[in-house]
Amino acid sequence: MANLSTTYMGLKLRNPLIIASSGLTENIDDIVEFEARGAGAVVIKSIFEEEIIAKAHDNLNRMQASGFIYPETMEYFDYDSMEDPISNYLEFLGKVKRETSIPILASINCVTAEGWIDFAKRIEDTGVDGLELNVFELPSDPNRTSEQNEQVYFDIAERVTNMVKLPVAMKVGYYHGALANFLVSLSETPIKALVLFNRFYNPDFGINTLEFTPSSVFSTPAELSTSLRWVAILSGRVSCDIAASTGVHDGNAMVKQLLAGAKAVQACSTFYRNGKEQTTFMIRQLEDWMNQNGFKAIEDFTGKMSQQKTYNPAAFERVQFMKYFHDL
Ligand SMILES: Cc1cc2nc3c(=O)[nH]c(=O)nc-3n(C[C@H](O)[C@H](O)[C@H](O)COP(=O)(O)O)c2cc1C
Repeated sequence: MANLSTTYMGLKLRNPLIIASSGLTENIDDIVEFEARGAGAVVIKSIFEEEIIAKAHDNLNRMQASGFIYPETMEYFDYDSMEDPISNYLEFLGKVKRETSIPILASINCVTAEGWIDFAKRIEDTGVDGLELNVFELPSDPNRTSEQNEQVYFDIAERVTNMVKLPVAMKVGYYHGALANFLVSLSETPIKALVLFNRFYNPDFGINTLEFTPSSVFSTPAELSTSLRWVAILSGRVSCDIAASTGVHDGNAMVKQLLAGAKAVQACSTFYRNGKEQTTFMIRQLEDWMNQNGFKAIEDFTGKMSQQKTYNPAAFERVQFMKYFHDL
């Protein structure tokens, strides 16, 4: 029988499948069901830095006046339920910990290293097992260099890891100039894991209405390839664990990411599309694949297809279709 257990950011997981932070991880019944269906760990829906900093309307107004947030962001807040998002979140984490026994990670969505860092300590006090920081600001200002944009990631990593003993993961995007260099440097801070990659809300608009609409909220299996490439390139080069994220919709995709070098795999859209029972299905697919291929433990094959270990490292560098598809 294959042993599916693994370690991720120092935590022992019964298998590498982590339920990603989303609307599916913001109520206790869903989380308990994910645990019952076999999930290795759960990342709780993020609390936003803005929510932590701005406990009252006047704080928000001040932030808006100083240009810190846009009017659209203001519309996002439901003021009536905002009375105390902080204590609600902390209370919820404590409840989840009491009612489950798999590792539970809190999540903070942040864009600065100011004003909210103490909150990490309060999260730690709830007894959760780890903290994932979802950090991203669009590098859309042409007057700012990559270094200027990226400094905040290092500031956040340093300040939060100084504040807590909890293992800290950073969930990042791929809009960075020298991506490999940036992620290797980030992995050399005291963070314990990189989550590659976050999937962002992208704007779209109708050509007749000229109204903005959200583009697809859920990923497709085809979106696996970006994170697969970068997990494979960075495996063995970064100084922390990697969790693969985006486009993992079934057990085979999970196997691929582990072969590429991920220590764990996060998934979300597949549960929105296929229900929570997909959890059990994915884990069974992983187990069947291990049995069919004679692997007794996860570490027996982790990273086998990483760029450093594969017979064909150039495959991950190839970006043009010239050779294979010139007849199409
Ligand atoms: C409805 C929805 C809500 C999400 N909320 C969060 C969130 O609060 N924090 C976060 O870090 N990621 C959030 N995500 C992103 C997911 O955690 C995940 O990174 C992304 O969906 C890519 O994984 P997937 O391809 O398995 O869906 C959300 C995704 C969806 C679809």
